[in-house]
This record gives sequence, structure tokens and C-alpha cells, in this order.
Amino acid sequence: MLKENDIVIAVDTKGKKYVFELKKDGIFSFHKGKILHNELIGKPDGCIVYSSMSEKLIILRPTLMEYNLYRLKRGGQIIYPKDVGQILVLADIFSGANVFECGCGSGALSLYILRAIGEDGKLVAADVREDMLKIAKKNIEEYYKKPIEEFKNLELKLLDLKQAQLPSEYFDRVIIDINDPWEVLEKIHYTLKPSGVACFWLPTVLQVFNLTDKIEKEFQDKIFIQGIYETLQREWRKKEISLRPKDRMVAHTGFLIVIRKIL
Ligand SMILES: C[S@@+](CC[C@H](N)C(=O)[O-])C[C@H]1O[C@@H](n2cnc3c(N)ncnc32)[C@H](O)[C@@H]1O
Repeated sequence: MLKENDIVIAVDTKGKKYVFELKKDGIFSFHKGKILHNELIGKPDGCIVYSSMSEKLIILRPTLMEYNLYRLKRGGQIIYPKDVGQILVLADIFSGANVFECGCGSGALSLYILRAIGEDGKLVAADVREDMLKIAKKNIEEYYKKPIEEFKNLELKLLDLKQAQLPSEYFDRVIIDINDPWEVLEKIHYTLKPSGVACFWLPTVLQVFNLTDKIEKEFQDKIFIQGIYETLQREWRKKEISLRPKDRMVAHTGFLIVIRKIL
């Protein structure tokens, strides 16, 4: 049943999605009328309702992907859901894993890592900017509906990875989303457990070259490059007898580079 403070997603007849938080006496209005929140509170999720202008709306609880795309407060570019899926698989994030994530930015990826590692894992999510950590904290608290102090599997850390002292052979997995990760390869190697996996997200091919070239030239006995990946996802639509790809797609987000620590 839907209740006050739940976040819901309303899908109109054209498939457009609107996300809002249910509040007693609140009103959701859009170009095709209004819905009183009180009408939704107490209804089952997945229900169909009609706006004041008779527009049909499906009311759902947002998936984490929908939360990230339509609700998450952004302080900058986030890792897009199609890439998150690949990161979780390629970096082999498992239940109980001890993960270091830098820069965590708005926390879009952190939300997924927390879910994947579960209560027995530990995520240290770090960023050099305090304002970004505040945004990540707000998003994580809103999505998981509990204050950050109550998370036993999360530490949000203010640090500059270029200056930071990380513990030796401590993390099972490392995820890096900063502009110049080739500057911190030594630190990543030091803090990863033997055969541990690190995954880098980089938007441009020159960055991919700089990173992999440095590994090839200076880390050949310390780091094995497992793969360089790009993920394309094309959505399709069906309307009556027309079944075809959508006109628009997110053509480029970034590249994923996956490495293993060797001794
Ligand atoms: C593109 S954002 C990360 C977005 C994040 N992955 C998400 O999904 O929301 C890159 C972040 O890296 C942080 N950053 C850049 N250099 C850093 C460094 N040397 N140490 C720690 N964080 C750094 C920036 O402050 C910024 O917040």
C-alpha cells in the first residue's frame, strides 16, 4: 500500500514519467490536470488513477534506475544506468565485498553498490569535494529512508585520492570515476587485495589511452588489463504493427577499463 513519504512514479498515456513524494494534502499537477496525494495514499502500488482532466496514469514505485534518472539530485555527470549494470558485473561486485569508490559524486553508483554488497559488505565512497559528498548523503538517505549514521556498510569520506593514504591490500574491489586515474595507479595497486578487481569509468578515448598506456609501460608486472569496454543500449518501441528502435538513444556515455592486481 502507498503511504505518506513514499516516492512514486506516475506514467502517462504517452509513457512520460513523473516522480514525486507523497505528502498528506499534497497535489501533483501536470499539463493534463491534477491528482490529490490523499487519493493515492492507501492505494496499492501499480494502481491506475485518472487526473482531474481524465488522463490515465499508472502509479508505480520507482526502480533504482528510475530514481537515478528522474529524482536523484545531481551535482555533476552521473554514471548512466546501462554502465552501472556493466560495472557491477565486470568489477564483480558481490554480497559482502569491501569496496572503495572514488569520486562518488552525487552517489548514483554508490546507491547500486550498497544494494549489491548488502549489509555484510562495506563501501567507502570518497570525493575530494565536500559539496558533492553532501549531495551523495542526501540522495542515499532519501532513497534508503534512513540517516547516514545508521548505515553500517557505508563510510562517506572527504579525500583527494592523489594525497590519500589507503590501507594496504584492504579492498576487494575499487571503482574509480575521476578525470586522471593514471595518476593514482600506485595507490590503487597498493590498496587492492591480490587478484582484486578495479574498474575505471572514463568518457574520452584519450583518457583511456593515457591510462592503459601507463599500465602497459610502467605496471606490466603489477596490473593485468582484463578488458576495455563500451556499452551500447538501444531501446525499441511497439505501436500496433510498427515494432522498431526508438528514434533517439544515448549514444555515448563512457568507457570502462577493468584491471586485476597481480603480484
Ligand atoms: C563525474 S563525478 C562522479 C559521479 C559519480 N560516479 C556518480 O555516479 O554520481 C567525478 C567526481 O570525482 C571527484 N574527484 C575528482 N578528482 C578527485 C580526486 N583526486 N580525489 C577524489 N575525488 C575526486 C570530483 O569531485 C567529482 O565529484
